[in-house]
Amino acid sequence: MKPGSGLWFLVLVSLCFTVKSQCSKGCGLALASYYVWPESNFSFIGQVLGTDPDTIVSFNKDKVSDKDRVPSFIRVNVPFSCDCIRGEFLGHEFLYNISSGNTYELIAKTYYANLTTIDALTQFNSYNPNNIPDNGQINVTVNCSCGDSAISKEYGLFITYPIREEDSLESIAANESIDPQLLQRYNEGVDFGKGSGIAYVPGKDANGSYRPLNASSALAGGVIAGITVAAIAAVLILAGSIYVYFYRKKKADTKLLPAYEDQSSNDAQDVGSTAHKAVESTGSGGAAAGITGITIDKSVEFSYEELAQATNDFSLASKIGEGGFGAVYYAELRGEKAAIKKMDMQASKEFLAELRVLTRVHHLNLVRLIGYCVEGSLFLVYEYIENGNLSEHLRGSGREPLSWSSRVQIALDSARGLEYIHEHTVPVYIHRDIKSANILIDKNFHGKVADFGLTKLTEVGSTSLQTRLVGTFGYMPPEYAQYGDVSPKVDVYAFGVVLYELISSKEAVVKGGSLAESKGLVALFEDVLNQPDPREDLCKLVDPRLGDNYPIDAVRKMAQLAKACTHENPQLRPSMRSIVVALMTLSSSTEDWDVGSFYENQALVDLMSGR
Ligand SMILES: Nc1ncnc2c1ncn2[C@@H]1O[C@H](COP(=O)(O)OP(=O)(O)OP(=O)(O)O)[C@@H](O)[C@H]1O
Ligand SMILES: *[C@@H]1O[C@H](CO)[C@@H](O)[C@H](O)[C@H]1NC(C)=O
Ligand SMILES: *[C@@H]1O[C@H](CO)[C@@H](O)[C@H](O)[C@H]1NC(C)=O
Ligand SMILES: *[C@@H]1O[C@H](CO)[C@@H](O)[C@H](O)[C@H]1NC(C)=O
Ligand SMILES: *[C@@H]1O[C@H](CO)[C@@H](O)[C@H](O)[C@H]1NC(C)=O
Ligand SMILES: *[C@@H]1O[C@H](CO)[C@@H](O)[C@H](O)[C@H]1NC(C)=O
Ligand SMILES: *[C@@H]1O[C@H](CO)[C@@H](O)[C@H](O)[C@H]1NC(C)=O
Ligand SMILES: *[C@@H]1O[C@H](CO)[C@@H](O)[C@H](O)[C@H]1NC(C)=O
Ligand SMILES: [Mg+2]
Repeated sequence: MKPGSGLWFLVLVSLCFTVKSQCSKGCGLALASYYVWPESNFSFIGQVLGTDPDTIVSFNKDKVSDKDRVPSFIRVNVPFSCDCIRGEFLGHEFLYNISSGNTYELIAKTYYANLTTIDALTQFNSYNPNNIPDNGQINVTVNCSCGDSAISKEYGLFITYPIREEDSLESIAANESIDPQLLQRYNEGVDFGKGSGIAYVPGKDANGSYRPLNASSALAGGVIAGITVAAIAAVLILAGSIYVYFYRKKKADTKLLPAYEDQSSNDAQDVGSTAHKAVESTGSGGAAAGITGITIDKSVEFSYEELAQATNDFSLASKIGEGGFGAVYYAELRGEKAAIKKMDMQASKEFLAELRVLTRVHHLNLVRLIGYCVEGSLFLVYEYIENGNLSEHLRGSGREPLSWSSRVQIALDSARGLEYIHEHTVPVYIHRDIKSANILIDKNFHGKVADFGLTKLTEVGSTSLQTRLVGTFGYMPPEYAQYGDVSPKVDVYAFGVVLYELISSKEAVVKGGSLAESKGLVALFEDVLNQPDPREDLCKLVDPRLGDNYPIDAVRKMAQLAKACTHENPQLRPSMRSIVVALMTLSSSTEDWDVGSFYENQALVDLMSGR
């Protein structure tokens, strides 16, 4: 071994040790689960934990709406900064102002609701624990966690959760919508039935979403051991291309970019500049022409007042999501459940014409546009779909995994919705933003395509004659990402990606441990499907939450269909109509399989699918 490599080895070993036993930096946000005792209130809790009542409310919108009326005997999550204390452990050091009669016990068990301990107070303060002064300040440490990439990269925000008498692993898991086994893995050796001690529970931020582990805190969590010198070199080599890649992603994620004016660069071929491509307008006069003569239906127009009233002035509590075009709110309007999308744009005249056409498109597998409002900004009122979006079902925790037959059903439903807008509406539409977040699931677990017509709307609404490049990275076919070529095959490609998602529950862009490992789902599947016998490796790509409860032949057919949909050449991709037919065949065979007679019926299925 050369001296140089020996040194590297030493550095790595010492890194491993420092990472294992200590910390180098914190991760910003953590949450403290504070059990509200009867005489406490948010101003007091805010005081001891260094925050203000409004902030506490914003993290507990599901439980409290008024900071002055806080029920007792509930837990609230209080945000605090998770630091690396003295290089030794993750926590935060609060300063508490002592008043007369305080004891360490009172401070730890009541004022800090067991987020700290008498031991910790004794350790971090020089006073005699049995004789603390009547005034002055003491150091109160509350521990925290930044997550662990070895367990899951989906969670990067953790609640410091003092375990109470009545708690158990199951009750905490149920209360916090976390898988009990996952919770136990995050808390190795913790006895949840003991009635005391601290557990770390994945928590949601003020927006109600889980925060993924970010790369730097993942390193702090102890994955350094896994990084080899070779990987470091590879990362360096790849850094250039990654920069380009993420630059594109960022561009693509920003939906309403200013139009790409730079038409002269149309011939540029390199990947890095694709986002700057100019795109010919597909012409927007047709849609407006389509409605001439139609009398304007007033019932689809809502007043701002009506919408504001139904959403508590667009309060955070009514907010159900946020996308590239604006925020979405829940409302009950004229006795109907609705989702109101507040668009980050104004409505133009052409836009209104387009909107009226959209309110007339009805199909079982399309989320219906009920109406709109143009006072102030632009609001779109949609029928409310009970069960959230497909992306949440595939990857969100707190949802039952979708069965194989539901997945096939949802694929078929969305294919039908798409086929309808491609072939049966006047004018026809190209969705251009198909992705799992835009497929909503109704209460009967049927899929409905959301947001069709939106891309066209934004285009019509723009003053520029250029077509905007809209879409989401990971779902865009090469001809669209590079040249802005728009055809129904853009949707077919994106639909293929959704099929891969249904099989694997992976994101369209599979994030690796390092940036260099990130890979598109299409490439991931193609590597496997191009093998002579893909069966074994295909099984490895199937969502583990399905267990063994899926017919591998059907999975293979769906993967094959997805592969055809994501063919590089748009002309070789099937139409939505043939996709519907293929999925109908698959669906009938899946039903058979679900009643346990799949194998008996296999011959019939093969016959039907023409094998
Ligand atoms: N009609 C609806 N019924 C119920 N929930 C909805 C409805 N429309 C949207 N949502 C929820 O609101 C979230 C945000 O929707 P939005 O369309 O703004 O963003 P997105 O789908 O993530 O991205 P994009 O802007 O590309 O469509 C969705 O993920 C969905 O869960
Ligand atoms: C809040 O709680 C603290 C501690 O119990 C108490 O001293 C204070 O008076 C309370 N404030 C209000 C406004 O109730
Ligand atoms: C604690 O006391 C100091 C003055 O000694 C004061 O500035 C500070 O605001 C007090 N903090 C709280 C939370 O009451
Ligand atoms: C803290 O723990 C003790 C038991 O050790 C319990 O009696 C007390 O109620 C707890 N305090 C809070 C606020 O949960
Ligand atoms: C915080 O973590 C340190 C180091 O792991 C530990 O010694 C201490 O007991 C913990 N404190 C609390 C209040 O759990
Ligand atoms: C609190 O901690 C600081 C160091 O971080 C120390 O200087 C100070 O003496 C501690 N306070 C008490 C009351 O011991
Ligand atoms: C959470 O779990 C406890 C039992 O530990 C239960 O008493 C309580 O009602 C649950 N709270 C919620 C909001 O579900
Ligand atoms: C909530 O979401 C918005 C936009 O999506 C973001 O700007 C903001 O930082 C988020 N807030 C928190 C607390 O994560
Ligand atoms: Mg959407």
